[in-house]
Amino acid sequence: MEIVLSGIRPTGNLHLGNYFGAVRNFVKMQDEANCFFFIADYHSLTTHPKPDDLHARVKQVLVEYLAAGLDPEKSTLYVQSDLQETAELYLFLNMNAYMGELERVTTFKEKARKQPDNVNAGLLTYPSLMAADILIHKAHKVPVGKDQEQHLEMTRTFARRFNRMYQEDYFPIPQAFNFGEELVKVPGLDGSGKMGKSEGEGNAIFLSDDPKTIRKKVMRAVTDSGPTEPNQSKPEAIENLFTMLRIMSTPDAYNFFDEQYNNCTIRYGDLKKHLAEEIVHFTDPIRNRILELGNNEQYISKVARLGAEKARESGRKTVNEVREIIGFKSF
Ligand code: TYM
Repeated sequence: MEIVLSGIRPTGNLHLGNYFGAVRNFVKMQDEANCFFFIADYHSLTTHPKPDDLHARVKQVLVEYLAAGLDPEKSTLYVQSDLQETAELYLFLNMNAYMGELERVTTFKEKARKQPDNVNAGLLTYPSLMAADILIHKAHKVPVGKDQEQHLEMTRTFARRFNRMYQEDYFPIPQAFNFGEELVKVPGLDGSGKMGKSEGEGNAIFLSDDPKTIRKKVMRAVTDSGPTEPNQSKPEAIENLFTMLRIMSTPDAYNFFDEQYNNCTIRYGDLKKHLAEEIVHFTDPIRNRILELGNNEQYISKVARLGAEKARESGRKTVNEVREIIGFKSF
């Protein structure tokens, strides 16, 4: 069976963009592949060396993944730092990762610019750690957004290099794939870009948002003073609202408001009210599960322990084999 793997940094609550961009597809993939989903808490040290609420944030992602439909029985759902063998594979990969290629990585250059006082070696070797995550389970397929494609290319380079160097066809070369073609990009509510890309309060709707917050965010979404000519094209902010409507509501509702836009009778307030109710209707069951699971410490610990156990079974085997291939022998 094909092995699929994905990692997420515990940097915030899941929003509708995460859900429709990735998580919804992860839920489906669980029945078709051997899936590993992990929370990349080691990686978060590259930007937050002294995270005070790391455990709470890891737990929140775990809870939200479960609430969104990931199944710990079907998939291996684990926390990166529970699989300590990842760190050993990272060390081995780093021995054959070169300064030049690491320094050329776009995300490294961006982060180095953003945090000039903390250009640490972990930041530089972020791609080796990501490669370790992927190769430790010998994954075949890795769903990634556009911004992670270069990291995947590095993983492929490291895997090929390892195989060549130690003259063994050991690691499968993982393929990146993007759900992008089959779905709409979820826009932000502040009139531009992708949901979650800007930090602005109100840009993103989180799965954990309560109905009141959702209504408030949607009603505050950026609009203009309305169309003045029939069938005029929509400015970005308005296009975004219609995109949200297409994702969250029915074709009938979409066509209804589209027609009103085209004959200049639209009242954005009505559109927003409708959109807000559709979002509330969709997120409410998920939010209830988030609240319920968040209070069930025992169940969450059980899930994390089960995930760690399954991840270790797979990861230890790989690292032991890698040690042997490189030439480490125990006495
Ligand atoms: P991040 O936070 O950008 O995204 C988290 C995860 O969401 C998935 N994803 C997508 N998948 C397919 N198509 C899309 N358009 C799309 N958008 C988001 C990805 O599976 C991504 O994993 N550096 C990584 C975290 C990471 C990682 C890894 C990912 C650490 N180790 C190993 C994959 C494999 C990141 O910042 O992801």
